[in-house]
Amino acid sequence: RIQIVEESMTVLRHNDLGGYTVPAHGLYPFQWNWDSAIVASGWAVFDEARAWQEIESLFSGQWEDGMVPSIVFHKPSTTYFPGPEIWGTKEKPSKSTGITQPPVAAMSVRFLYEHADDPLLAMSEAGKLFPKLLAWHRWFYKARDPFNTGVVAILHPWESGMDNSPAWDEPMRFPVDNLQPYVRCDLNHVHPEMRPTKETYDHYLTLLYRFKNANFYDPDKLYHISPFRVTDLCVNCILFRANRDLRWLAIKLGRQEVVAEIDAWLDKGFQGFESLWDEEAGIYKCRDQITGKLCPAAISAGFLPLFAGVVSEKRAARLVRTLEQWLEQVKYGVPSMDPADPRFEPLRYWRGPVWIIINWMISNGLKHYGYDALANRIKDHSIALTSESGLFEYFNPVTGEGEGGHDFSWTAAMSLAWMD
Ligand code: DGY
Repeated sequence: RIQIVEESMTVLRHNDLGGYTVPAHGLYPFQWNWDSAIVASGWAVFDEARAWQEIESLFSGQWEDGMVPSIVFHKPSTTYFPGPEIWGTKEKPSKSTGITQPPVAAMSVRFLYEHADDPLLAMSEAGKLFPKLLAWHRWFYKARDPFNTGVVAILHPWESGMDNSPAWDEPMRFPVDNLQPYVRCDLNHVHPEMRPTKETYDHYLTLLYRFKNANFYDPDKLYHISPFRVTDLCVNCILFRANRDLRWLAIKLGRQEVVAEIDAWLDKGFQGFESLWDEEAGIYKCRDQITGKLCPAAISAGFLPLFAGVVSEKRAARLVRTLEQWLEQVKYGVPSMDPADPRFEPLRYWRGPVWIIINWMISNGLKHYGYDALANRIKDHSIALTSESGLFEYFNPVTGEGEGGHDFSWTAAMSLAWMD
């Protein structure tokens, strides 16, 4: 373990571009939103000031309306597509994408605050960040839940963080536009079998250009024109959990006047999850808002309501049975989709591989519901994967091999903050 701790610190230092951490050089050469928020908890273990700086630099990309973009382009790079020249955002001229990502940041701010060795610094940093976090969460409800259902929509698979999840197979069936020829950079870094297909990228870019044409990512327009509008479990479970942490921070920081507003999100959100439960499958599912149907694929985000804390004891037991069935079919958990599904691909990104950050969330949720043995089993799998294969982006659930990018920041951060 000592060796992996040292290796993890080295990875974070190596990926530090001065105040922000890239997920991996080459493959992802900018600041990614949820990556950074998770990476901050890793920094916190050995450099508290640097941890706060990570979140601050992420919020330097925050838009006027409160949105925090999925990528902040602090410095130019030629190793990623689509970069700032393609996004061409107006608000922060060419400095960010025009879409968001799972709102992990409030969870990290609470983590940093609770683990602070320097309480004065924590108080002042959390105090500065609180209004920004609040503005982002408000943006989610205003821009992505205009009909007040309690759960928010994503408009691009990149917003879910689980870019090529099989849950998007049906919602991504819209016809693609006539695209200018383009060259992907991801395939220069990672084997094509481990990345989304060309067809999937054509859909990603169709959405990007349509959003840009909608008055440069105007959120009011986007919600209505997007052919892809989904209630995603990853974003909604993280938002719910982050709301709980935001509430905790509000009280600590003497901002009681916003507690009722957050409570209303929590109450409504709790009800919103009801409509995502699939009793027969024994797992939560995403919903395609365009057709109104549940997305048929069972994916690892289907266990995240445990992490949000919105599950009854009875349903938790049912989720545990489903999870145990998944684990029987692979050597290492948790695969990103049901291994019994014919679409399961142990190499391809979010269509099979194990992701350590999702393992952390599922394990944390299981502990909360009293399933300590299973929670520890998932942690043990995560420790085995990282110590035997290295600090990779994701892992093959059948063989344990590392896949995608290596020297990967959030995997290193999880080694420090969770698998310690
Ligand atoms: C990508 O692969 O380009 C995405 O932005 C990462 O989620």
